[in-house]
Amino acid sequence: MFMEFENISIGVDIEEISRFEGKERGKDANFLARIFTEKELDYCYKNKNYASHLCGKYCAKEAAVKALTNFNINNVYYGDIEILNKDNGIPFVNLPKYPDIKFKVSVSHSKLYATATVLALKD
Ligand SMILES: CC(C)(COP(=O)(O)OP(=O)(O)OC[C@H]1O[C@@H](n2cnc3c(N)ncnc32)[C@H](O)[C@@H]1OP(=O)(O)O)[C@@H](O)C(=O)NCCC(=O)NCCS
Repeated sequence: MFMEFENISIGVDIEEISRFEGKERGKDANFLARIFTEKELDYCYKNKNYASHLCGKYCAKEAAVKALTNFNINNVYYGDIEILNKDNGIPFVNLPKYPDIKFKVSVSHSKLYATATVLALKD
């Protein structure tokens, strides 16, 4: 018999870092603003490997969207989901639109790719 946890969901994504290389905060402000919040951009552009960090956050957003789909939530967009980092670097998901959903996220990047996995728990 097929059984499923109804209040737990998971999503994963992997993307090529190259799609974010060369993006500049000024020149590409419109493109960046469609995906990232100012806080996310502040974090990523502090680092010379900003494209890796942007791509990791993008993956985390995509992974969160996948996880939410399993709860039949289909109205969440990139700008709604904020992927921030605690002082110790550990990432977390901020989604004010759905305060009853808790998340865990893990991000990793290699030279070419970034990936993220998101676990979602609905109260
Ligand atoms: C945090 C750490 C595990 C990251 O690993 P890494 O292979 O260098 O880098 P990855 O690309 O896999 O992961 C980077 C991402 O991990 C996340 N991260 C950062 N610190 C973290 C932490 N303490 N715990 C969990 N995730 C963390 C971030 O999301 C980061 O990406 P971002 O800055 O774009 O958001 C590692 O650098 C570290 O600090 N380890 C400290 C402990 C240690 O050295 N142990 C020895 C192991 S043998």
